[in-house]
Amino acid sequence: MNSILSSLRWRYATKKFDSSKKVSAEDLANIKEAINLTPSSYGLQPFKVLQIDNPELRAKIQPAAWGQTQIVDASHLFVFAHLTDIGEKEVAAYMQNKADRSGFDVSALKGYQDFIVGKIGEMSDARKSEWNARQAYLAVSTALTAAADLNIDACPMEGFELEQLNEILGLKEKGLSAAVIVALGYRSEEDETQNAPKIRKAEKDLFEIL
Ligand SMILES: Cc1cc2nc3c(=O)[nH]c(=O)nc-3n(C[C@H](O)[C@H](O)[C@H](O)COP(=O)(O)O)c2cc1C
Repeated sequence: MNSILSSLRWRYATKKFDSSKKVSAEDLANIKEAINLTPSSYGLQPFKVLQIDNPELRAKIQPAAWGQTQIVDASHLFVFAHLTDIGEKEVAAYMQNKADRSGFDVSALKGYQDFIVGKIGEMSDARKSEWNARQAYLAVSTALTAAADLNIDACPMEGFELEQLNEILGLKEKGLSAAVIVALGYRSEEDETQNAPKIRKAEKDLFEIL
Protein backbone atom coordinates (compact mmCIF):
# COMPACT_ATOMS: atom_id res chain seq x y z
CA MET A 1 0.00 0.00 0.00
CA ASN A 2 2.85 2.33 0.77
CA SER A 3 4.19 1.87 -2.71
CA ILE A 4 0.86 2.53 -4.40
CA LEU A 5 0.36 5.67 -2.28
CA SER A 6 3.81 6.98 -3.04
CA SER A 7 3.24 6.29 -6.75
CA LEU A 8 -0.07 8.17 -6.64
CA ARG A 9 1.58 11.09 -4.82
CA TRP A 10 4.39 11.10 -7.37
CA ARG A 11 2.25 11.05 -10.50
CA TYR A 12 0.70 14.15 -12.00
CA ALA A 13 -1.00 14.96 -15.27
CA THR A 14 2.13 15.65 -17.27
CA LYS A 15 1.91 18.75 -19.47
CA LYS A 16 5.33 18.57 -21.10
CA PHE A 17 7.01 15.30 -22.01
CA ASP A 18 10.68 14.76 -22.83
CA SER A 19 10.29 13.56 -26.41
CA SER A 20 13.75 11.93 -26.36
CA LYS A 21 12.80 9.37 -23.70
CA LYS A 22 10.95 6.20 -24.69
CA VAL A 23 8.99 3.71 -22.60
CA SER A 24 10.57 0.26 -22.88
CA ALA A 25 8.74 -2.59 -24.59
CA GLU A 26 8.61 -4.46 -21.27
CA ASP A 27 7.05 -1.57 -19.35
CA LEU A 28 4.59 -0.99 -22.16
CA ALA A 29 3.58 -4.64 -22.14
CA ASN A 30 3.03 -4.48 -18.37
CA ILE A 31 0.82 -1.40 -18.67
CA LYS A 32 -1.17 -3.09 -21.44
CA GLU A 33 -1.66 -6.19 -19.31
CA ALA A 34 -2.81 -4.01 -16.40
CA ILE A 35 -5.33 -2.33 -18.72
CA ASN A 36 -6.61 -5.72 -19.83
CA LEU A 37 -6.90 -6.90 -16.20
CA THR A 38 -9.20 -3.99 -15.31
CA PRO A 39 -12.60 -5.19 -14.13
CA SER A 40 -15.66 -4.25 -16.17
CA SER A 41 -19.38 -4.71 -15.72
CA TYR A 42 -20.20 -8.39 -16.42
CA GLY A 43 -16.61 -8.59 -17.71
CA LEU A 44 -17.69 -7.40 -21.15
CA GLN A 45 -14.86 -4.87 -21.71
CA PRO A 46 -16.93 -2.85 -24.22
CA PHE A 47 -14.05 -0.74 -25.46
CA LYS A 48 -10.85 -0.84 -27.49
CA VAL A 49 -7.51 0.76 -26.85
CA LEU A 50 -5.85 2.18 -29.93
CA GLN A 51 -2.08 2.53 -29.69
CA ILE A 52 -1.13 5.37 -32.00
CA ASP A 53 2.45 4.70 -33.07
CA ASN A 54 2.31 6.48 -36.42
CA PRO A 55 3.87 9.98 -35.98
CA GLU A 56 1.91 11.37 -38.93
CA LEU A 57 -1.33 10.27 -37.33
CA ARG A 58 -0.28 11.83 -34.05
CA ALA A 59 0.47 15.10 -35.84
CA LYS A 60 -3.02 14.94 -37.34
CA ILE A 61 -4.60 14.34 -33.95
CA GLN A 62 -2.80 17.24 -32.23
CA PRO A 63 -4.94 20.10 -33.63
CA ALA A 64 -8.10 18.13 -32.82
CA ALA A 65 -6.75 17.80 -29.26
CA TRP A 66 -6.62 21.55 -28.74
CA GLY A 67 -2.98 21.64 -29.87
CA GLN A 68 -1.80 19.90 -26.71
CA THR A 69 1.87 19.01 -27.06
CA GLN A 70 1.61 15.72 -25.16
CA ILE A 71 0.01 14.20 -28.27
CA VAL A 72 3.23 14.43 -30.27
CA ASP A 73 5.89 14.55 -27.54
CA ALA A 74 4.88 11.59 -25.39
CA SER A 75 6.62 8.27 -25.91
CA HIS A 76 3.33 6.44 -26.46
CA LEU A 77 -0.24 7.44 -27.08
CA PHE A 78 -3.36 5.44 -26.35
CA VAL A 79 -6.89 6.36 -27.36
CA PHE A 80 -9.48 4.59 -25.23
CA ALA A 81 -12.56 4.23 -27.42
CA HIS A 82 -15.84 2.75 -26.24
CA LEU A 83 -18.39 0.79 -28.25
CA THR A 84 -21.35 2.98 -29.16
CA ASP A 85 -23.72 0.01 -28.92
CA ILE A 86 -23.79 -3.30 -27.09
CA GLY A 87 -26.03 -6.32 -27.19
CA GLU A 88 -26.31 -10.00 -28.06
CA LYS A 89 -23.15 -10.19 -30.16
CA GLU A 90 -20.82 -8.86 -27.45
CA VAL A 91 -22.44 -10.93 -24.71
CA ALA A 92 -22.20 -14.09 -26.86
CA ALA A 93 -18.51 -13.40 -27.55
CA TYR A 94 -17.86 -13.03 -23.82
CA MET A 95 -19.71 -16.26 -23.02
CA GLN A 96 -17.79 -18.17 -25.68
CA ASN A 97 -14.51 -16.86 -24.26
CA LYS A 98 -15.60 -17.80 -20.73
CA ALA A 99 -16.67 -21.30 -21.84
CA ASP A 100 -13.41 -21.84 -23.72
CA ARG A 101 -11.30 -20.64 -20.80
CA SER A 102 -13.28 -22.65 -18.26
CA GLY A 103 -13.49 -25.84 -20.31
CA PHE A 104 -17.23 -26.27 -20.48
CA ASP A 105 -19.85 -26.00 -23.21
CA VAL A 106 -21.23 -22.51 -23.87
CA SER A 107 -24.78 -23.89 -23.64
CA ALA A 108 -24.26 -24.16 -19.86
CA LEU A 109 -24.14 -20.36 -19.73
CA LYS A 110 -27.41 -19.79 -21.63
CA GLY A 111 -29.40 -18.63 -18.59
CA TYR A 112 -26.73 -16.14 -17.54
CA GLN A 113 -26.30 -14.97 -21.13
CA ASP A 114 -30.04 -14.33 -21.52
CA PHE A 115 -30.10 -12.46 -18.22
CA ILE A 116 -27.35 -10.07 -19.28
CA VAL A 117 -28.81 -9.55 -22.76
CA GLY A 118 -32.16 -8.80 -21.11
CA LYS A 119 -30.65 -6.29 -18.68
CA ILE A 120 -28.72 -4.52 -21.41
CA GLY A 121 -31.86 -4.52 -23.56
CA GLU A 122 -33.59 -2.42 -20.91
CA MET A 123 -31.12 0.41 -21.52
CA SER A 124 -31.73 3.22 -24.00
CA ASP A 125 -29.23 3.55 -26.87
CA ALA A 126 -27.69 6.62 -25.21
CA ARG A 127 -27.38 4.81 -21.89
CA LYS A 128 -25.65 1.82 -23.53
CA SER A 129 -23.04 4.07 -25.11
CA GLU A 130 -22.47 5.94 -21.86
CA TRP A 131 -22.30 2.68 -19.86
CA ASN A 132 -19.64 1.39 -22.25
CA ALA A 133 -17.68 4.62 -21.82
CA ARG A 134 -17.72 4.16 -18.04
CA GLN A 135 -16.00 0.81 -18.42
CA ALA A 136 -13.32 2.46 -20.58
CA TYR A 137 -12.73 5.10 -17.90
CA LEU A 138 -12.00 2.40 -15.33
CA ALA A 139 -9.32 1.03 -17.64
CA VAL A 140 -7.88 4.53 -18.05
CA SER A 141 -7.53 4.74 -14.29
CA THR A 142 -5.69 1.43 -14.19
CA ALA A 143 -3.38 2.61 -16.96
CA LEU A 144 -2.50 5.74 -14.98
CA THR A 145 -1.86 3.80 -11.77
CA ALA A 146 0.14 1.08 -13.51
CA ALA A 147 2.25 3.70 -15.27
CA ALA A 148 2.91 5.54 -12.00
CA ASP A 149 3.90 2.27 -10.36
CA LEU A 150 6.59 1.94 -13.05
CA ASN A 151 7.71 5.57 -12.65
CA ILE A 152 6.26 6.35 -16.05
CA ASP A 153 4.55 9.68 -16.50
CA ALA A 154 1.13 10.00 -18.04
CA CYS A 155 -1.52 12.50 -18.98
CA PRO A 156 -5.18 11.54 -19.29
CA MET A 157 -6.81 13.82 -21.84
CA GLU A 158 -10.40 14.65 -22.58
CA GLY A 159 -9.39 17.91 -24.19
CA PHE A 160 -10.25 17.08 -27.79
CA GLU A 161 -13.01 17.66 -30.31
CA LEU A 162 -14.87 14.38 -30.29
CA GLU A 163 -16.28 14.48 -33.80
CA GLN A 164 -12.90 15.42 -35.26
CA LEU A 165 -11.00 12.72 -33.40
CA ASN A 166 -13.56 10.07 -34.31
CA GLU A 167 -13.28 11.16 -37.94
CA ILE A 168 -9.45 11.09 -37.98
CA LEU A 169 -9.38 7.58 -36.52
CA GLY A 170 -12.37 6.30 -38.51
CA LEU A 171 -14.01 5.22 -35.28
CA LYS A 172 -17.67 5.62 -36.28
CA GLU A 173 -17.40 2.95 -38.97
CA LYS A 174 -15.97 0.61 -36.33
CA GLY A 175 -18.86 1.24 -33.93
CA LEU A 176 -16.54 3.14 -31.59
CA SER A 177 -16.24 6.62 -30.12
CA ALA A 178 -13.23 8.15 -28.36
CA ALA A 179 -13.46 8.49 -24.59
CA VAL A 180 -10.04 9.46 -23.29
CA ILE A 181 -6.54 9.86 -24.71
CA VAL A 182 -3.67 8.73 -22.49
CA ALA A 183 -0.17 10.00 -23.23
CA LEU A 184 2.67 8.01 -21.66
CA GLY A 185 6.34 8.80 -21.34
CA TYR A 186 8.73 10.80 -19.21
CA ARG A 187 8.29 14.32 -17.85
CA SER A 188 10.40 17.14 -19.21
CA GLU A 189 12.56 18.87 -16.60
CA GLU A 190 10.98 22.08 -17.89
CA ASP A 191 7.47 20.98 -16.94
CA GLU A 192 6.63 23.35 -14.08
CA THR A 193 3.49 21.38 -13.25
CA GLN A 194 5.57 18.71 -11.54
CA ASN A 195 6.31 21.20 -8.74
CA ALA A 196 2.69 22.20 -8.18
CA PRO A 197 0.94 21.02 -5.00
CA LYS A 198 -1.68 18.29 -5.28
CA ILE A 199 -5.09 19.89 -5.22
CA ARG A 200 -7.57 17.53 -3.63
CA LYS A 201 -10.66 17.85 -1.46
CA ALA A 202 -10.30 17.58 2.30
CA GLU A 203 -10.96 13.98 3.33
CA LYS A 204 -14.07 15.03 5.27
CA ASP A 205 -15.56 16.57 2.14
CA LEU A 206 -14.95 13.48 0.02
CA PHE A 207 -15.99 10.76 2.42
CA GLU A 208 -19.18 10.54 4.40
CA ILE A 209 -19.49 7.96 7.10
CA LEU A 210 -23.08 6.81 7.64
C1 LIG B 1 -10.74 12.27 -17.77
C2 LIG B 1 -9.67 13.30 -17.63
C3 LIG B 1 -9.44 14.20 -18.65
C4 LIG B 1 -8.39 15.12 -18.58
N1 LIG B 1 -8.09 15.92 -19.65
C5 LIG B 1 -6.94 16.64 -19.64
C6 LIG B 1 -6.47 17.29 -20.81
O1 LIG B 1 -7.08 17.26 -21.86
N2 LIG B 1 -5.29 17.96 -20.73
C7 LIG B 1 -4.54 18.02 -19.59
O2 LIG B 1 -3.47 18.61 -19.60
N3 LIG B 1 -4.98 17.42 -18.45
C8 LIG B 1 -6.13 16.72 -18.46
N4 LIG B 1 -6.54 16.05 -17.33
C9 LIG B 1 -5.73 16.17 -16.11
C10 LIG B 1 -6.47 16.77 -14.90
O3 LIG B 1 -6.59 18.15 -15.06
C11 LIG B 1 -5.70 16.38 -13.64
O4 LIG B 1 -5.70 14.98 -13.52
C12 LIG B 1 -6.31 16.97 -12.38
O5 LIG B 1 -6.22 18.37 -12.39
C13 LIG B 1 -5.63 16.45 -11.13
O6 LIG B 1 -4.24 16.71 -11.16
P1 LIG B 1 -3.13 15.56 -11.16
O7 LIG B 1 -3.61 14.48 -12.09
O8 LIG B 1 -1.92 16.25 -11.67
O9 LIG B 1 -2.99 15.06 -9.76
C14 LIG B 1 -7.60 15.17 -17.39
C15 LIG B 1 -7.87 14.27 -16.36
C16 LIG B 1 -8.85 13.33 -16.49
C17 LIG B 1 -9.05 12.31 -15.38
